[in-house]
Amino acid sequence: MTSRRDAEKRLGELRRQLQHHNYRYYVLDEPEVPDSEYDRLMRELTVLEKEHPGLVAPDSPSQRVGAAPLKAFGEVRHSVPMLSLDNAFSEEDLLSFDRRVREKLEVEQVEYTTEPKLDGLAISLTYEAGRLTRGATRGDGSTGEDVTQNVRTVKSIPLQLLGQGWPALLEVRGEVYMPKRGFEELNRELAKRGEKTYVNPRNTAAGSLRQLDPRITAARPLEFYAYGLGVVKPDTLPKRHSEILEKLRGWGIRVNRETRQVKGAAGCLEYYAHLGKKRETLPYEIDGVVYKVDRIDWQEELGFVSRAPRWAVAHKFPAQEEMTILKAVDFQVGRTGALTPTARLEPVFVGGVTVSNATLHNMDEVARKDIRVGDTVIVRRAGDVIPEVVGVVLARRLKNAKRVLLPKECPVCGSEVVRPEGEAVARCSGGLVCSAQRKELIRHFASRRALDIEGLGEKLVDQLVEKDLIKTPADVFALTIPELADLERMGEKSAQNLAAGIAGARKTTLPRFLYALGIPEVGEATAQTLAQHFGALEPLMEADAEALQEVPDVGPVVAEEIAAFFRQKHNRAVIAALRKAGVSWPALPKRPASGAQTLAGKTFVLTGTLAAMTRDQAKERITTLGGKVAGSVSKKTSYVVAGSEPGSKLQEAERLGVEVLDEEAFLRLIRA
Ligand code: IVH
Repeated sequence: MTSRRDAEKRLGELRRQLQHHNYRYYVLDEPEVPDSEYDRLMRELTVLEKEHPGLVAPDSPSQRVGAAPLKAFGEVRHSVPMLSLDNAFSEEDLLSFDRRVREKLEVEQVEYTTEPKLDGLAISLTYEAGRLTRGATRGDGSTGEDVTQNVRTVKSIPLQLLGQGWPALLEVRGEVYMPKRGFEELNRELAKRGEKTYVNPRNTAAGSLRQLDPRITAARPLEFYAYGLGVVKPDTLPKRHSEILEKLRGWGIRVNRETRQVKGAAGCLEYYAHLGKKRETLPYEIDGVVYKVDRIDWQEELGFVSRAPRWAVAHKFPAQEEMTILKAVDFQVGRTGALTPTARLEPVFVGGVTVSNATLHNMDEVARKDIRVGDTVIVRRAGDVIPEVVGVVLARRLKNAKRVLLPKECPVCGSEVVRPEGEAVARCSGGLVCSAQRKELIRHFASRRALDIEGLGEKLVDQLVEKDLIKTPADVFALTIPELADLERMGEKSAQNLAAGIAGARKTTLPRFLYALGIPEVGEATAQTLAQHFGALEPLMEADAEALQEVPDVGPVVAEEIAAFFRQKHNRAVIAALRKAGVSWPALPKRPASGAQTLAGKTFVLTGTLAAMTRDQAKERITTLGGKVAGSVSKKTSYVVAGSEPGSKLQEAERLGVEVLDEEAFLRLIRA
């Protein structure tokens, strides 16, 4: 236990820091530190206050929510205070919450409504005689800002309730948020205009709603989900939270579809695990789940403590953003020679793993975010996405923080680094002289979707290139079993297996071969269309940029890249050597007559898993029939094919009104 004197001192520091962060977060919509850091400070504060109850000041951040409203907006008094939620950070926290609830109610088991905890901002909507008359932010919980004009621009907030039977005065509370996709698009747009970008969807939503000019709010993709009530007169509503939500839904108010009812703590934990798995595929950000005692009479019996109800708790997911120190910046050289600045970090636990490297994307990003070596940075790792540095905690910048400079020479081969005017990406000019590029090219060449050489993994490629056993992809086919057996971690048996893998890879297909060559801008889809258009390798190699532009989806930039690739003598030499080494593919069937191109002009997006075929096979079928496969849903998408466990693309399709095919319907279409 901390002495009273030390506790008093530390509490003072914590309160000052938390007040500062509250101001940055709630008033400026510009937090300095990630939520995880804020949560840590708040936890330390509450633990200390629990140890020393005599030191709890009425203005302590533990006793209040949010921050005072901005004067620029009119003030709104909340006659029912807008509270916050207590957090549970672990299973034990949740179990003790449930225990407290049961003990206070003196019952065996409690039914809970479980809801996603959306990461946006709390909003109160007042409906009088069914018409929206006011929208207000939470502010400090008792006084918020009048944002009625802005709230009216949010399309998912009804201006008039549907149906009938609504109470004369109905205050709906919920969260205004910005979907992930809208956030990314907005940031891309802002970056293009050279304007300041937002750090995360939560602050973007808050910043967008608290604009003095409602036209700006109207242009932002904001959405709303309701999760509760404020004042209701007369109170004719059902006596269960879940039924109230259902009622609201009937009146045209959006309620999250992930909402469920569960029994006891076990049900809560099951929901937590279920939603945790789904988190990445949801079209909006959530930072946890909320459990609420379903029976309203029980909620009333449980009541409130200072700033939060006793009948609800937020069970947080592991943080996806953390703070750490940027120790150094290295440059990695990719297959095409692109230099990617990579952050070397003080290891930090984020998104469920320890991260010590993160991408900085390119030098424009480094400059835009003003990232310097020695800075305290915010690292984000969401799902399986590569960790990235999203920003700097400027308040913690040290005087000796060093600017990041693009090296003049390639860190691997010493060749000159070039960065064409106006381009974000800098490249090593060494080509295949550069062993980093060689390694990446060979890895790509051997990868599953290219020549699919079984057993030729990353570490082996590194060794083979470092020992100068392979300089070009064609050298792979000249490797002998003794050479392979001599490599580290290779025995006679694995050398034989690898040799068999290499031999087997000689038989391939033209699209795979084209993709394997690593021509800039030529991905799998383009390789497929090129193969189909030209039918064979030779006419493609002879085609000039103009002829290449006749290929569907090949524009001037891609056409020039392809033509330039085949113009290079050394590339032609590699192709000749590969063919000499026996790499071959079956002749392509003549292009199907246009009658067989039943899917011409149609664009497909695939999501989820199909039972009858792999995703690659589905793609191949679609392109053979003249259709196209795209990676994301837009208004131009003709069909979204949804297999089992579809991702957010399905919701996107529903939102845009794009036709969705289940597997059966898709199979019918491709067989027709
Ligand atoms: S209920 C009295 N339900 O989290 C209970 N809040 O930390 C009030 N939030 O201010 C809140 N999703 O902005 C509730 N399903 C949900 C929520 C939710 C997000 C936010 C809300 C609230 C904050 C509490």
